[in-house]
Amino acid sequence: MEPVRVKDNIYWVGAVDWNVRNFHGYSTHQGTTYNAFLVLDEKVTLFDTVKPGFGDEMVHNIRQIIDPEQIDYIVVDHVELDHSGSLPEIVSVVKPEKIFCSPNGKDALLHHFHQDSWPYEVVRTGDRISLGKRTVEFLETRMVHWPDSMFSFIPEDKLLISHDGFGQHWATGERFDDEVDSSELFKQAAKYYANILLPYSPRITAVFQEVRERNWVFDTIATDHGLIWRRDVDKILQSYVKWSKQEATAKALVVYDTMWHSTERMANALLDSLMSEGMSVRLFDLRANSRDDIMTEVLDAKAIALGSSTINNGVLPLMADMLSYMKGLKPVGKIGAAFGSYGWSGEAVKLLNEVMAEMKFEVPDPGIRVKYVPAAGDLANCVELGRKIGKAVNDRL
Ligand code: FEO
Repeated sequence: MEPVRVKDNIYWVGAVDWNVRNFHGYSTHQGTTYNAFLVLDEKVTLFDTVKPGFGDEMVHNIRQIIDPEQIDYIVVDHVELDHSGSLPEIVSVVKPEKIFCSPNGKDALLHHFHQDSWPYEVVRTGDRISLGKRTVEFLETRMVHWPDSMFSFIPEDKLLISHDGFGQHWATGERFDDEVDSSELFKQAAKYYANILLPYSPRITAVFQEVRERNWVFDTIATDHGLIWRRDVDKILQSYVKWSKQEATAKALVVYDTMWHSTERMANALLDSLMSEGMSVRLFDLRANSRDDIMTEVLDAKAIALGSSTINNGVLPLMADMLSYMKGLKPVGKIGAAFGSYGWSGEAVKLLNEVMAEMKFEVPDPGIRVKYVPAAGDLANCVELGRKIGKAVNDRL
């Protein structure tokens, strides 16, 4: 990719990772980008870098604009290696006068790269630096996504550089939101939120409040992943408000794994019943769907029914994986149900209920266990369970 002008004398100089398909457990079906931004001013400043292996691409992009040795400052908004991994390489080329980072950022940089001699300059919330014609104001955004994270705001350009915030894992040749299909863009942004930022939703609410108190006015959000927001700034901000409140709709998911199709038959009976109750429904066989795509649907679903056969006194492995992943992402305010077939011991439903209790799901029914293969009466019980869940959802919304 070539550098792209974002604003006068501000350029995207990052890298596109077309082929990455797994981002520590998040399936990036369409790759991602690592965005970095070069600001030309009296102090030439690079905001963030790229993942290890992409440093050459970034340096190539910078060279299209200036000699990298002309860079004076580097700002590290986020230390996770997809944004700082090429920092040693760029520091050795640039020999920056200063590296700006948050207090936690300095600690994280020292623990990642073990470089005591780099010219760290710690900045805190409210600190401002001058680049010449421009200023940069910083806001620490701890745990959005890591303790070190911070926003950089350039008021003269109405530009917010937001590191992971508002990102999407989507590799494209386009760089701006108005150049791509909007529904796909928001789908990718929702997936990113559900799988990366969901557990930090209370912090996001607090950060929004801090941004409001600062009266920052921006018309462009330069995120470190995916498309830069310049047309749908208000819409993505409103989406984040909605997602951080975990506002749910009358949507019900049925998520299951099955050994010999008994649990699957129960899942289908439950699904039909939930649909009859007016729910928007989604059925996910864990053998055919990735945990992260399911989490994207969890984001605004009110009800989640979990089904697993019992195997070796537990749930099936893909369900164990799903439960561990979902629990870590801390969805709130859900209504749950458990179901599953068994042959002799039959612990799966009990275990599913225990995990839902840990996630503080409201579980209005103890769930349904079926020995071996469901009979007509068992499937009728699944229909009844669907009715009960559907009623609970309609009562809560
Ligand atoms: Fe894109 Fe938290 O790193």
